[in-house]
This record gives sequence, C-alpha cells and structure tokens, in this order.
Amino acid sequence: MAKHVSAKPRAVADFKTAEDLLNVLPATAQVRDGHLCVGGVDMVDLAHEAGTALYVMDEDTIATQLRDYIKWTRYHWDEVDVVYAGKAFLSRAMAQLVADEDCCLDVSSGGELALALSAGFDPSRIYVHGNNKTDQELVECLQAGVGRIVVDSFEELERLSTLASERGVEQAVLIRVTPGIEADTHDYIKTGAEDSKFGFGLNSGSAFKAVRRASELPGIDFEGLHIHIGSQIYALQSFSAAIEVMVAFIAKIRDELGIETRLLDTGGGLGVAYGVPDEPSTIKDYGKVVIDDIKAECEKHGLPVPRMAVEPGRSIVANAGLTLYTVGVIKEIPDIRTYVSVDGGMSDNIRTSLYDAHYEALIANKADQPRTITVTVAGKHCESGDIVVSDGPLQEVERGDILCVCSTGAYAQSLSNNYNKQVRPGVVWVKDGQWRWVVNRETYDDLMRTDAIEPVR
Ligand code: LLP
Repeated sequence: MAKHVSAKPRAVADFKTAEDLLNVLPATAQVRDGHLCVGGVDMVDLAHEAGTALYVMDEDTIATQLRDYIKWTRYHWDEVDVVYAGKAFLSRAMAQLVADEDCCLDVSSGGELALALSAGFDPSRIYVHGNNKTDQELVECLQAGVGRIVVDSFEELERLSTLASERGVEQAVLIRVTPGIEADTHDYIKTGAEDSKFGFGLNSGSAFKAVRRASELPGIDFEGLHIHIGSQIYALQSFSAAIEVMVAFIAKIRDELGIETRLLDTGGGLGVAYGVPDEPSTIKDYGKVVIDDIKAECEKHGLPVPRMAVEPGRSIVANAGLTLYTVGVIKEIPDIRTYVSVDGGMSDNIRTSLYDAHYEALIANKADQPRTITVTVAGKHCESGDIVVSDGPLQEVERGDILCVCSTGAYAQSLSNNYNKQVRPGVVWVKDGQWRWVVNRETYDDLMRTDAIEPVR
C-alpha cells in the first residue's frame, strides 16, 4: 500500500470552486463573499476566532443523516434499531443528539460506555462490542444495565455467564458471526472474512456452537446474531451476500436447535464520498436493500421476520465534518511537487497515511476561486509520510490562508493522537449561524497532566 507521496500520477487542476464540492461538504455549505460558510457560520472568521487546526461539524447534517437512517429503514420494517457507531466520532453532545433522534448507540470500550453514560444515554439502548472485553468492562456493562452485549469468543461467553449469574441478571447477547464474505473495500477495514480476529466463523461451525452454548448457559439470553463485514463499502451486493448466508444460518438454528433468533444486526459499513467523483450508495437505497433482503430471505426459509439493527458510523458523520488549518510553509520542488504545510497533520488525520485515503481540499477564504494548481498538503510532523492530501487540486495558495479539508467528520478526531506532543484540535459544532465547542482544544497542560515523575517503588 502506498504510504508515501511518490508513485501516484499527478492530479490535474480541476478548476472547481467550493460550489462544485458540495458532495463532500456538509449540507448547509455555501459560499458568501468568497468565503466558505457552514451552518451559517463563516469558516474564515471561525478559524480566526477559535484557532486552527480545528474540526468543524454541522449539527443539521448529522441530525438529517440519523433521521434518514430511521426513515429509510423503518419504511420497510417497523422494528429496526439504528445504532450509531460511536467509534466514528463520540462526544457527549453527539450521544445526546443520537438519543434525541431516537437512535441507539454502539460502544466498543469501557471508555466509550463511560462517556455515553455521563451524557445520560439510556443504557438499555446501548450495544456493546469488542473482541477482547476485559472482566472490568463486562462488569461495567452489567452494572450499567446495557441493552445488548455482542459476544465475540467462547471464553467471553463463559466469563459473561459467570459474571451475570453472580449478579442474578440475565444479559441479552448477540453472537458476532464472520460470515465469510469479502466486502469490496480496503484490506485494513474488511472484517467479514473467515480470517479475522472478530467473531465466530460461520463456515468453521464455530458460530453454530456459540449459539448452542449461549442458549445453554445461565445468565445469558441469546437474542440474536451480529455481523459487520467492513467499512466504506460502495457495493450494496456485499450486504446482500452476507444477509443471504445469515438468514440461512437462522433457519439452521431453528431447524437443528429449535431456537428462535429474535434480532439480526447487520453492522455498519455504508461508504461515503471523499472525492468529487465518488458516488456512494444512498441511505435510502441501503435501507431498501438491507431490510427488504432480510424480509425476502426470511420468507424463503419460512421464518418470522426478526427485529433488525443497523450500525452506521461513517455515513452519519463523515460529510458533516471538515478540518480547518492555517497554511504555513509552502515549498516548491521544481518539476516534482509543491508541499503546502499546515498546522496539523497525521496527529489529527491519520487516514491518509494509514489507508492511503483521498480527501478534497480548498482555501476557505478563496472559496469562489477555481482550484488551478496541484499541491500536496503536508502536516508538521517529523515523518515524511505525514501527508493529508496527496497531489490534489487547490486554489492559488499563500501563507496565512485557511485551508479546509473536506469529509473529515468520521475517524479523524476519534483516531487522533499526540505525536510530537502536538495538542489535539477541539471540535466545534455549527448550527443556525452560531457555534459551540463540543470537544475543547487540548492545551500544553493536558499533555503534562498524565506525565509522571515519581520515585521508583
Ligand atoms: N459496527 C461495528 C461492529 C464496527 O466495527 C464498525 C466499524 C461499525 C459498526 C461502523 O462502521 P461504519 O458505518 O463507520 O463503516 N478507522 C477506519 C474504519 C474502521 C471501522 C471500524 N468498525 C477508517 O478510518 O476508515
């Protein structure tokens, strides 16, 4: 996988202005007096007031995507939980918005659970994931009274049974199955194939044994099955293929074990546009394919249609977000490329170096001007792979410009780090011409807070 800026063909300037980039910008994006505005807030003024680097998210876009998922899944079947995957981006404001929009929440660590609970999120609407949940995390789940735990291994099942029985509770569980489906996406974010650290293999017979064991164990209420075949998936057929084998599995569980599967959770994975030419499937089409396929397959096998759950993360927040940077050093290497360095980089967006991800960039204070030059947007870290946009089009650029990288609402802040002791940017939400912090910008004091100098023990 290309981790460096070398071998790719150079993109040609595309002459597009911000108005041509609407598929990778939040729904409220507009150009006013040459400036990019989102949620009625001028991004250039915001950058000057709140500082850069800065993550900005449009609250209305997030709420609309949550509502679209509810609408276009429940349109086909009443009993569907839309379970927002907190790993894409989680803060207390986000947890509250998810609750307000009648969605459930997927957490995958004790930390995500603690944050959701501190936001007042109803624990019975929480789904808990993880391939290596600690005893402490399982106890925290039981104490909180979480709705469902998605069990990932035999030993987790046994431990959970003991811990739940000790507390006199019966915990609803889903068994995570790896259905042996190769999703059409990047190798690092495929999770449904047989060779995976996640879940119980369907073809090996492990998943069947796990369901049987779950139905026997005290303290465990086998409610249903879970799959997550991968992320950033464009081809809806990948979901159809997984649903076909999963519903056949539900029939086998009924026929051979006499057990009813009351819930089928098909995970997340719907892809989004990162580049102007990208054409992902819509939430509407996704809802139709997933829900109708489950219904049709159940009919084929003479099964009652179960409760369903979908777990979108990226497709809720990616296009709602963007990152603002201030342009610093510009270095032109004759006949090779121009590096535009910004006040952030792989500490606030590691996706380009990790997955060779592609992003669109524009100058927020020149949003009405065409992107006529080709540049590489680099970060400020001590790493030559510290690239945010590799050979992309941009307006004529100068030091002090406010550079906007689009579609960074998912898996940018949540994967951020303090490499080079860089303080992490804060997150601002915009709505109706106003803005507020939902995650504060870190300070040097935050870096010192966990640092320790103490005598040896
Ligand atoms: N459910 C489960 C069990 C998951 O593991 C995930 C994502 C989701 C739901 C949400 O999937 P989404 O709708 O966001 O595709 N860091 C990578 C993505 C890793 C996805 C991990 N699991 C990236 O930046 O592309």
